[in-house]
Amino acid sequence: MTRTPFVGGNWKMHTDRAGGVALALAVAAGAPDGCETSLFPPFPYLLPVAEALAGTALTLGAQDCHHEPEGAFTGEVSIPMLAECGVGAVLTGHSERRHVLGETDETVARKTHAVLKAGLACVLCIGERLEERREGRTDEVNARQLRAALEGLDAGAFERLVVAYEPVWAIGTGNVATPEDAQDAHAHIRGVLGEIAGAERARTTRIIYGGSLKPDNARDLLARPDIDGGLVGGASLDPAQFLEILRAAAENA
Ligand code: PGA
Repeated sequence: MTRTPFVGGNWKMHTDRAGGVALALAVAAGAPDGCETSLFPPFPYLLPVAEALAGTALTLGAQDCHHEPEGAFTGEVSIPMLAECGVGAVLTGHSERRHVLGETDETVARKTHAVLKAGLACVLCIGERLEERREGRTDEVNARQLRAALEGLDAGAFERLVVAYEPVWAIGTGNVATPEDAQDAHAHIRGVLGEIAGAERARTTRIIYGGSLKPDNARDLLARPDIDGGLVGGASLDPAQFLEILRAAAENA
């Protein structure tokens, strides 16, 4: 079985309402077949973007969630609320949430379990920081973050999981992992997934690359055997660039 490529556009805290809708419409109009595509707008624009994507093959994603279904958590947004807005996929463990906003492996695990248990897709982000890479600890960090987030999950939940390998030093910096280094990291992550969930599940789970993915480097990266798509930040804000990356991914379908 081949894995259908998955590409996510992570808009982070960018766009405004009209700009976000226009971006979603432009991406939906040009998106190729053969690549599963999700857009992750800021919370306030979920509903208008959902409307823009209605009737298209694209799915709506959320950048974060709280793990409890409801409660006294001022400022937080629950998974049932997101689902009601049309969200089908949620990001967990993004490096900005881990390293800028202070999320621990435990927080990421709670969110990941809650998203998958609720029946939504989860794009779990993992990846090493520059000093960890320099110390030769890339595989160790990825394995730790993966195990922490996924241990104890029901077997069926893995169907809805996508793992995003995003080396922290590559995110938003223009420094991209070489296709060889990224492929090595992905192959290792697939091996660890096999230990956690079994070889068959490891074979069918998408592992996508993130970190300065652009039209000029996407083809090389996405052609590697264990790289099944991408999570795109900066380039997802420009429809022409994002569509070029989608086409590169679809070529590897
Ligand atoms: P970038 O962001 O493409 O701007 O490096 C990727 C991400 O944060 O998912």
